[in-house]
This record gives sequence, structure tokens and C-alpha cells, in this order.
Amino acid sequence: MPSGRIKVHDKTFEIFIDESEIQKEVARIAGEINRDLADRDPVFLGILNGAFMFASDLFKQMDFPVQISFLKLASYAGTSSTGTVKQLIGINMDLKDRVVVVIEDIVDTGVTLDTILRQLSGYQPEALIVATFLHKPEATIHKIPLDYVGIRIPNKFVIGYGLDYNGYGRNFKDLYAVVGD
Ligand code: IMP
Ligand code: MG
Repeated sequence: MPSGRIKVHDKTFEIFIDESEIQKEVARIAGEINRDLADRDPVFLGILNGAFMFASDLFKQMDFPVQISFLKLASYAGTSSTGTVKQLIGINMDLKDRVVVVIEDIVDTGVTLDTILRQLSGYQPEALIVATFLHKPEATIHKIPLDYVGIRIPNKFVIGYGLDYNGYGRNFKDLYAVVGD
């Protein structure tokens, strides 16, 4: 296990939640999903890039055959009163009347998840279910029901386990928190 501090760009990070604690929570969520959804033929949609590691660990613990796909939010220069519009890309299957489980790395303000759920609801799924590895409740302004939450954390910036700072740090097995601010 990497210990001590790591530096990414201008910021220093220290270990915050280690691999064993993370894996304990992933196993817990996997158990809940196996129990709740085994007879509902769910389709899992991982949101890239951040959710890749959580999704991979979670999917390995599903004990029934599942369908998996990955989506990405792409910014495009559309004309919108709110500025940048983010479009969900990569949907390549029919989601109508399906039980869709969105796999996210983190819910911070909730703006991203709100955008994702609005777009997915247009495909008329039977149910939209959310599993997120991290949640920052103090920062969340969109009160979206979160069906499965790994770990609730205070409002500090973290990297590792799929999460990045300016593109770096997604690779670490442990979660690191910024030192200072
Ligand atoms: P939102 O504020 O809930 O819309 O989250 C937006 C996005 O910000 C997330 O999907 C992450 O990519 C990123 N994000 C939020 N908090 C953190 C963090 O602590 N570390 C790394 N990325 C974060
Ligand atoms: Mg993300």
C-alpha cells in the first residue's frame, strides 16, 4: 500500500481511505445489489472516466449474469442559455422498460448526475437506480435519491480509485485527500 504523501501538479495529497476499507464497502454494495436486483435483469451503465475502477471491482462481485456498458459525458458547443451542454454519449442498447443502474464515482454538487438521469429518463427505462462510490452530502445541491452509496465524505477534494486531479491520479488503489485548503 502506498503510504505517506503524493504530489500532483501544485497540490499535496495524503492517504484518506485505504484499499481495505474501500473494498469492504464495495463488497457491501455488491451484496445489496445481488440481493435486490438479481431477478430484475438490470443493465449497468458505468460513467467514464471516473467510475472505471469502482465499476470493475463491483461487477466482479455480481453473482448473476449482468449486462454492462460504459457512457461518457461529452461537452459540446451548443447554443444554450446555461452555457456548456453535456451530452451523454455511448448508449448502444435499448433501455426502454429496462432496470438501469448508473455507476458513478462521486456525487458532489449533483449537477452531473442530474444531467445523466434527465437524459437517461428520455429512453423510458422501467427504473433508474444509482450506485455511487462516494458522496459529499454537504456539497450536494441537487437532492437526487442515491440508492447505493459507498462512502460519505466531508467536502474535501480527493483523488485515487478512479478520481483525478487535472487528469492525474486515477490509478491509485487508495483514496487520497488534498492537504491544506
Ligand atoms: P458534481 O458536482 O456532482 O456534478 O460532480 C462533478 C464531477 O466533479 C464528478 O463527476 C467528478 O468528476 C468531479 N469531482 C467532484 N468532486 C471531486 C473530488 O473530490 N475529486 C475528483 N473529482 C471530483
Ligand atoms: Mg466523474
